[in-house]
Amino acid sequence: MSAVALIVAIAAALACTAAAALGLNPALVGGLAALSAAGVAIAAGAAAVELRASAELTEPRHARGPSAPEKLPADAIARRGVFGRLWWLAFASFAVMGVVPLVSLGRKPRRTRTAWSPGARLVTPDGNPLRADDLVVGAVETVFPQGRTDAPESAVLLLRVRDDAMRLPPARADWVRQGNVAFSKICTHAGCPVALYRHATQELYCPCHQSVFDVPSGAQPKSGPATRALPQLALDVDNEGYLIARGDFTDPVGPDEWWRIV
Ligand code: FES
Repeated sequence: MSAVALIVAIAAALACTAAAALGLNPALVGGLAALSAAGVAIAAGAAAVELRASAELTEPRHARGPSAPEKLPADAIARRGVFGRLWWLAFASFAVMGVVPLVSLGRKPRRTRTAWSPGARLVTPDGNPLRADDLVVGAVETVFPQGRTDAPESAVLLLRVRDDAMRLPPARADWVRQGNVAFSKICTHAGCPVALYRHATQELYCPCHQSVFDVPSGAQPKSGPATRALPQLALDVDNEGYLIARGDFTDPVGPDEWWRIV
């Protein structure tokens, strides 16, 4: 019994390490780690039961003076050897499984593909395209790529801020058009829609766990559990004056785990 449980524990630990290294579903990685730990626990319990004497034993009094130790039968020695090696193997695979968290720390989230493409107009949920001067300063609107208002992962918050309000890195300085700036609406913490904008402080709020994002710095998290900025959508204006995207997001939208699970 204990040998079987140890073999299961070793196999589960090795499978867990492989699943983590391949970036498979985190639920599968966690399940295999739990199975491995359960296997070791069952093996230890079974070994304790097996070692316990089944009946009360009395050791006969030995004759006085030196005596040679009693020899164990050869098959008992062989069994002990195999069992001992299994335990060492279980410890070693447990140690390898300790690498799992390091694997997940090292991998970058995959780049996201959403329905945004170069030249896609920004439209309201009703499908109406927006011009650069449609929103007044302080206003916010949820927009989608034209023809894809059914794509929830592409939902974007379009804000109109004062022309001089943004403090973006130089590489993103021209992603804003006439004070129009666009960020993914999906919270990077757990995927709720970021629904509230407070113009006085230029902050976006996620109502689920109260993450606050600072708009002028490019929606960097200011407080709350989110640790990553809301991805920004680069904007342009077409020759008819409508706001368009310059392409897809360059950062993954939503929580990192989404793109490892799906
Ligand atoms: S989902 Fe936005 S703060 Fe948790």
